[in-house]
Amino acid sequence: MKTRTLNTFRQIVYAKSGIALSDKKEALVCARVGKRVRALGLGSYEQYLDVLQNDESGAEMVELLDAVCTNVTSFFRDAEQFDFLVTQMRSWIAAGQTRFRFWSAASSTGEEPYSLAIALLEAAEGRALDMRILATDLSTTALEQCRAGVYEERKIQTVPPPLLSRYFSVERFDGVRHYRVKPELTRMVVIRRMNLSQPPFPMRGPLDAILCRNVMIYFDNPVRQRLLADIHRLLKDGGYLFVGHAESLTGIVSPMKYVRPAIYTRS
Ligand SMILES: C[S@@+](CC[C@H](N)C(=O)[O-])C[C@H]1O[C@@H](n2cnc3c(N)ncnc32)[C@H](O)[C@@H]1O
Repeated sequence: MKTRTLNTFRQIVYAKSGIALSDKKEALVCARVGKRVRALGLGSYEQYLDVLQNDESGAEMVELLDAVCTNVTSFFRDAEQFDFLVTQMRSWIAAGQTRFRFWSAASSTGEEPYSLAIALLEAAEGRALDMRILATDLSTTALEQCRAGVYEERKIQTVPPPLLSRYFSVERFDGVRHYRVKPELTRMVVIRRMNLSQPPFPMRGPLDAILCRNVMIYFDNPVRQRLLADIHRLLKDGGYLFVGHAESLTGIVSPMKYVRPAIYTRS
């Protein structure tokens, strides 16, 4: 890809998503933009740039951002964070709280918000509590999978067996076993497309906890800082922010207080 074309794609992606593609990401940009070039039957990256810049509907921009986003995730990723939240939930429940609001801010294909829903139901131990999770992502294809809530066998390997039988039903598609999250989970999860690089977000809060994991690594410090300021606004006092283990807030000006690796609180 010509340097000028590469830089134009980088600028567009940064402006629209906050994703900072460094010089080292040329191969990634070529591969992912190449997918769109082929899908549209075009002959070059420059032709694609033309289509993208003249598409007033914005539909091709959505496709490009979908292609650029890395959606890797898994059920109960960083399991100790869910254990921490369950312990916290139990103490909030013991203190008489009955309404809970959570945000899975880069929910990808749904493994994170559904793991959270399972953890909350386990903490509730059958009590009828008002618990809601907002699941948001920039990628429309990821959100479609989240909405479908159906996972191949290899995706559910990290779900502990007792939880698998409690919260999933088994279905066969073309003779292959798939696992569908049960309605008690989907009922708790509200799914929306949202761009984390463009705060303020349209929620009011206060939220009990926010999972913003393994997405800030794609952003630069100005974007992270704006995002964290709005996360701080949305969290309740004593609420928790969970980030990915590669995402320490060191070096970012933020009022969030460190609790333990990858966990922060608003105090
Ligand atoms: C690596 S996945 C992390 C998924 C999950 N949070 C986890 O930790 O397993 C990163 C997700 O961030 C999403 N993403 C990237 N840029 C975004 C943005 N500007 N706004 C919202 N989501 C974004 C991607 O679409 C992708 O689903």
